[in-house]
Amino acid sequence: MDKIIFSGVQPSGTPSLGNYLGAFKQFPKFEEAHKVYLCVVDEHAITVRQKPEDLHHNTLAIAAWYLASGINPNVSTIFIQSHVPAHTQLGWMLSTLTYMGELERMTQYKDKSQKKAENLNAGLFTYPALMAADILLYDTHAVPVGEDQKQHLELARNLAIRFNNAFGDTFVVPEFMAPPAGARVRDLQNPEKKMSKSEPGPGTILLTDTPQEAAKKIKRAQTDNEARIVYDPENQAGISNLLEILAACTNRTPQQAVMEFEGQQYGALKAAVAESVVFALEDIQAKYKSYMDDKAELTRILREGSEKANTHAEKTLNRVKDKLGFVIPFSA
Ligand code: TYM
Repeated sequence: MDKIIFSGVQPSGTPSLGNYLGAFKQFPKFEEAHKVYLCVVDEHAITVRQKPEDLHHNTLAIAAWYLASGINPNVSTIFIQSHVPAHTQLGWMLSTLTYMGELERMTQYKDKSQKKAENLNAGLFTYPALMAADILLYDTHAVPVGEDQKQHLELARNLAIRFNNAFGDTFVVPEFMAPPAGARVRDLQNPEKKMSKSEPGPGTILLTDTPQEAAKKIKRAQTDNEARIVYDPENQAGISNLLEILAACTNRTPQQAVMEFEGQQYGALKAAVAESVVFALEDIQAKYKSYMDDKAELTRILREGSEKANTHAEKTLNRVKDKLGFVIPFSA
């Protein structure tokens, strides 16, 4: 049987270079040998207040970025989470197996709750149970995501195991899968924190930035006074981040990328990073635009995607209901 890959991106803003290198760029390589499901997780996005018109636009835009990254919709399934009701249904069931303490330990919740103290809603807290449902509904073997999602994935694995132990074998236990480079792209101005689409600024490259804007942000990236190009994220976070970005854009490891800069100045590294980022952006931006200009085609792809996703998800949900003892709706 084909192995199944599942991943999701929130339509909570314009995606960043971190989203691209940590997630989008990885997906097409799985298409040849695996069944790939890619979800635009709009139900997750509303755990932080969104303007309705922005959410609407960003939802279609994330689908277009999946396609622009090279996903073939005739092979893989791209769909919108709210088009498949099984996600929230299984999310509810899994929330009844999730301990408060597990949710309290989630760093994404802790971060967001500190920043958004005015809208500290229950959805933000139970978010990881919904994310587990997203993954487990598709009998997923592996979840390619950035490093920041590892803790959520660990919970999804624990919930799958907990359910299987309590009710009998039901779920595939999914594996976390990080990219070889770019698993944690850092903010260019503050390399202590990750580059984030929800806090755009001079340290964040957005996928819609012009080549000039992106190059300028890289040129101004924070470095240090060491004046040596080494890959050492602990002690030279800024330089290591630039090496990480270069490596991810050029399909190498940071250790391979560093070799070409022996004895060189920081300016040379920044120029190489800018060139590789601009090259990547130009390629995907052209494709993104063509999908956004053809909404009829985009909605056709999403409609077909939701049909395929619903078929798989419904089967899993019925299996779960049966295991739990729910009475399956009577057919006529
Ligand atoms: P989200 O929307 O924040 O991010 C989407 C993907 O981008 C990765 N990412 C990064 N990778 C490297 N460097 C960065 N600076 C960086 N920032 C973000 C994320 O790891 C992710 O892969 N909870 C998820 C969405 C989600 C999901 C799922 C993912 C919901 N259900 C099921 C996988 C499977 C999130 O907030 O991603």
